[in-house]
Amino acid sequence: MTITEDSGPSGAGPKVVDSREIVLQTEGITKRFGAVVVLRGVDMVLGRGEVLGLVGDNGAGKSTFVKILCGFQRQDSGRILVEGEEVQFHTVEDARAKGIETVYQDLALVPQLTVYQNLFLNRELTYGGKLGLMNNRKMRQLTRQYLDEIRVNVPNIDAEVDRLSGGQRQAIAVARATRQEAKILLLDEPLAAMGAKESALIIDLVKDLSQNRGVSIVVIDHNYTHLFELCDRVSVFQQGRVTFDKRVAETSLEELTELMVSDYRRQVMEGQAQLKGA
Ligand SMILES: Nc1ncnc2c1ncn2[C@@H]1O[C@H](COP(=O)(O)OP(=O)(O)O)[C@@H](O)[C@H]1O
Ligand SMILES: [Mg+2]
Repeated sequence: MTITEDSGPSGAGPKVVDSREIVLQTEGITKRFGAVVVLRGVDMVLGRGEVLGLVGDNGAGKSTFVKILCGFQRQDSGRILVEGEEVQFHTVEDARAKGIETVYQDLALVPQLTVYQNLFLNRELTYGGKLGLMNNRKMRQLTRQYLDEIRVNVPNIDAEVDRLSGGQRQAIAVARATRQEAKILLLDEPLAAMGAKESALIIDLVKDLSQNRGVSIVVIDHNYTHLFELCDRVSVFQQGRVTFDKRVAETSLEELTELMVSDYRRQVMEGQAQLKGA
């Protein structure tokens, strides 16, 4: 990754990463929960239309980082900049207003509501007027249309979400986020519950959004094969820090695997040393 200050004729211009304009940037993000330090100063940049993959052990702080980026949690220190401007997110709505949409690892769907009700959750369409009556017909029609457009196969949009498969539910959560025409999309393990066919569909959708609509995407996934197919760049989180950051074209499955395995070995050794010392 290369970051440059793109100095045009007027001097300081927008910062760019790999010749893309920087859309999202963090500087020194820290977070602790009581005595547990989860993030120890995370610096990240994300270019326009770029897909950045985050990998790392369970507990490395990836989900916490994403929750801070989308306003669900607040950092203890550090800055978030959207298109070069520092932002303060107190709620998820604050981040949404800046064009940031999220699919959480622990899904934010309501199991007892139908597919179309979930798709329009907190953004319900009404007929307008004082009573604010729900326009269910319109919401159902748009749900059908959008799911067909992105080729998500859910036969019955009136079905309650808890009757769907894990993969279908995940697809609905992704559809809910992508339908908003976000500028920045944060996906925390969107492929976790999915079969091969469903994964391929979501991968195609993410590629289309980044390549054809300029959406910038952060995606967490444990599957390196998915990441290499999907991402422009990959960052590794280890114990609350980014320890590795490379363009996918400049790294390999072997390098990433070796990095994670050697980290695991080091942790085992440290654990053994601590036990002996105790
Ligand atoms: N709300 C919370 N309260 C206390 N600890 C938390 C909370 N959320 C996350 N943690 C802890 O923070 C660490 C990082 O978690 P997380 O960000 O989910 O990691 P990852 O997504 O990389 O697996 C874990 O040790 C987890 O137990
Ligand atoms: Mg996580």
